[in-house]
Amino acid sequence: MKKIVLGNWKSVGDTASNVVLLTALAQHAPAAGVELGVCVPYPYLPQAKAILEGTEIGWGAQNVSPFGAGAYTGEVHAGMLAEFGCRYALVGHSERRQYFGETDELIAGKIDRLLAANVRPVVCVGETLAERESGAWREMLEGQVRALVTRLGVDKCARAWFAYEPVWAIGTGRSAEPRDIAEAHAFLRRQLVALGVPQRDLVLLYGGSVKADNAQSIFAVPGCDGVLVGAASRVVGEFAAIAAAA
Ligand code: G3P
Repeated sequence: MKKIVLGNWKSVGDTASNVVLLTALAQHAPAAGVELGVCVPYPYLPQAKAILEGTEIGWGAQNVSPFGAGAYTGEVHAGMLAEFGCRYALVGHSERRQYFGETDELIAGKIDRLLAANVRPVVCVGETLAERESGAWREMLEGQVRALVTRLGVDKCARAWFAYEPVWAIGTGRSAEPRDIAEAHAFLRRQLVALGVPQRDLVLLYGGSVKADNAQSIFAVPGCDGVLVGAASRVVGEFAAIAAAA
């Protein structure tokens, strides 16, 4: 199984600093079996395409409209992402669930649209610190994946990648311990298989304070297929160092 290394720039970037990052990234030839990509804010998709096209490195978005083309002012639909060569798009990131009230229903609709446009959904799931400390994290994760399988069906969910991102590890500099990642991934796998998603189709990533100095231990976690990197993906050299650890 290949290892996946995706960067999530979040709402950060400007054309000048992006050129430095993307050009440095374009120089990095991912090792065989490593899928390397970066998810950028919508306005920078043309820039990412212009610099990364022709390399093995993919690019994508961090969100998508739950609708198709039409009178949905301000929305960016999946066909537009496909037009700009997006390989993937993040869906249901905890920051979108928190700040924009994204529901399982809305997230399922976004996944559906991405699949129809042949853009890989990277579905973010994860618990809060309170849910982790109370032990309710299993119920939380199970509910998130059950809601998607119920709405989309097994075949569509099998085509998505899932990123386990414990909210308490995002942006804190404190990644989950390898044993916690292993436990959560094993739990998610069991739940998804029990819901009917074939084991062979499952791809599970980890996100939450992934850095060059902890990446190797995270890649070594049994069943971890890769990482989703926030802040470190915007540090010249560090993101490539994480990819090199894959
Ligand atoms: O989507 C990845 C992101 O949530 C993780 O952010 O800064 O903790 O690597 P960071």
